[in-house]
Amino acid sequence: MMPPAFTSAAGGRVANLGLRQPAAATLWHGRSVTIRPVQPDDEFGEQAFVKGLSPASRYSRFHFGLRELPPALLSRMIHVDQRRHVAVVAQATDDVGDEEIAADARYVLRDDSDDGEFAIVVADAWQGLGLGRQLMQHLLALARRNGVPRLFGDVLRSNLPMIALVRRLGGSLTRHPDDWTLTRASCTL
Ligand SMILES: CC(C)(COP(=O)(O)OP(=O)(O)OC[C@H]1O[C@@H](n2cnc3c(N)ncnc32)[C@H](O)[C@@H]1OP(=O)(O)O)[C@@H](O)C(=O)NCCC(=O)NCCS
Repeated sequence: MMPPAFTSAAGGRVANLGLRQPAAATLWHGRSVTIRPVQPDDEFGEQAFVKGLSPASRYSRFHFGLRELPPALLSRMIHVDQRRHVAVVAQATDDVGDEEIAADARYVLRDDSDDGEFAIVVADAWQGLGLGRQLMQHLLALARRNGVPRLFGDVLRSNLPMIALVRRLGGSLTRHPDDWTLTRASCTL
């Protein structure tokens, strides 16, 4: 999935104060992660997270080949206003207290409508444990609370896990207007 079209921070809606409260999510294997807003000091963690993804997961998320985040994109991904660009990560802590980002989800409000464009990626080692579903539910709840009528995202037609997740969340899938390799996933809020 392409990064959502990053738009200016001008205008926008009232910030969601609840975003500042970390939320716990328990996964199927019993471990918990903390879902919290992305912060500017996530620079190292976000880069390590993206570098650590498998090429397939990176491609599914960004739709182009990259090994790491270019500086400008990294900067846009960590300097978010949490109004027009809402971004959360799932943070895991290991036995010795080291922290890592296990997943990232975000949406950016469009300039041409009230809708938001979402993107999500879960670290390979954390996939299939219910994290993607819980993080998407969290993102959808934030969007709903912020008055966003719809979140949509363009998903590779070959991306069966994401297509299954969208269906599981009650979203719909339609043909992409311009690109036959993509399907447009929409969640009405
Ligand atoms: C797609 C993605 C976000 C799913 O996250 P996840 O944490 O692995 O998914 P979950 O464990 O929460 O599973 C949620 C649902 O997804 C579906 N799903 C997950 N993995 C699946 C797989 N390998 N095959 C088929 N369906 C799968 C299931 O329907 C599951 O429903 P269930 O709760 O009834 O079992 C994750 O695989 C990922 O990050 N992929 C790479 C990046 C990407 O594709 N991003 C989306 C761009 S549009």
